Amino acid sequence: MEKLRIEGGHALTGTVAVGGAKNAALPALAATLLTDAEVRLHNVPAVRDVDTTCRLLDQLGVEVSRPAPGVVVTRGRGATGSEAAYDLVKTMRASFLVLGPLLARTGRARVSLPGGCAIGARPVDRHLAALEEMGAELHLEDGYVEARCDRLRGAEIAFDIPTVGGTENCMMAATLAEGTTTLRNAAREPEINDLAALLTTLGARIEGAGSHTITIHGVEELGGGTHHVIPDRIEAGTYLVAGALLGNELELTHCVTEHLQTAVDRVRASGAQIVTDSDRIVVSRGELHPVDVRTQPYPGFPTDMQAQFMVLMTQAVGSAVIRETIFENRFMHVPELHRMGADITIDGHNALVRGPTPLSAAHVMATDLRASASLVLAGLVAEGETVIDRLYHLDRGYENLEQKLATVGARVERFRE
Ligand code: UD1
Repeated sequence: MEKLRIEGGHALTGTVAVGGAKNAALPALAATLLTDAEVRLHNVPAVRDVDTTCRLLDQLGVEVSRPAPGVVVTRGRGATGSEAAYDLVKTMRASFLVLGPLLARTGRARVSLPGGCAIGARPVDRHLAALEEMGAELHLEDGYVEARCDRLRGAEIAFDIPTVGGTENCMMAATLAEGTTTLRNAAREPEINDLAALLTTLGARIEGAGSHTITIHGVEELGGGTHHVIPDRIEAGTYLVAGALLGNELELTHCVTEHLQTAVDRVRASGAQIVTDSDRIVVSRGELHPVDVRTQPYPGFPTDMQAQFMVLMTQAVGSAVIRETIFENRFMHVPELHRMGADITIDGHNALVRGPTPLSAAHVMATDLRASASLVLAGLVAEGETVIDRLYHLDRGYENLEQKLATVGARVERFRE
């Protein structure tokens, strides 16, 4: 089993290049199911979820090659497969994103229901209801969604909550539907815009991505094209917090600062010294004060940054309240942070963080992707040698984490035990 050993307390100086966004790359890969033509994706991060999606595409009849770092090229073999099996979907919920494209392209799909995960129940009921409105016939059997349709037809879909995956699934399905689909109360995350940009390159007709209402005029078929995936705003945000804790002019490059503006504002309000350009952030440690945050859909404070921000607040002088409004069980990192000396009380959706508490190294267990990132941050700031177990969570979404950190002065190494 691979683990990470971190010797805490070292200042971070130098440059980290932010990689491509996992959460944009995964829907982009799913979208390649909509065409047999060649699609070239650049800036695809080398993370495990991307490997998993490439394997899934291969099972579904897409030829996938990775000719250079960060580049994935796909070409359809005539959509031969239609099943996404439980073994794969259970390791990565985003595999559910193949449902919309498969249905639209082939008229049938059998996709395992993802089930719950460490951060909550995370149902897919809104994805299913929307696809039904577009004319899909759905049956749930043996834990699978069995879906069939002739050609999907355009529909008026009003989401009662803005769901990122649901918006992506429907937007992809609607590109090949007959007529016009309108998605109301759509998610507005930058990853939605990025997917719309890719689909448009392939020949789709989409208006309004990034706003609450997205309109998709269905076309007969999509072609090929080249697309550059946007930078990973959560990876950037994670290094931003590392810089706020230990930075001495830690520079982040290759980012879109606007995509993480709320996180930048909150971290700056906590006392970190931050200078930004449109694609570059320089962060240095300052006197840290408590700042309350509440997770919200974009452009609000991202739930995927909540765990990392909590570590920052353990070092602030005073008490901060962190409210999680997106997922019901996203405080799995708290018991591990307690073991490192943090003073955090959970009351329902709120976590009260009392700082400053010196953190001390411990052997800790990663429970999900972003919780793991928070443990890395805690390890960087803790006194002594922290060991993080279950590294596979981290590897799902962070590219070259230990190399990137080591380059800027952290003492981090991966080892096997
Ligand atoms: C995506 C991101 C994830 C991020 C989340 C919220 C990817 C691969 N993952 O996840 O990193 O934390 O957005 O920004 O992009 N919901 C339902 N029914 C549905 C769909 C969602 O009840 O059919 C609920 C969820 O349980 C959750 C909320 O809606 O409470 C938001 O979920 P959603 O935006 O769909 O998140 P994901 O797309 O799964």
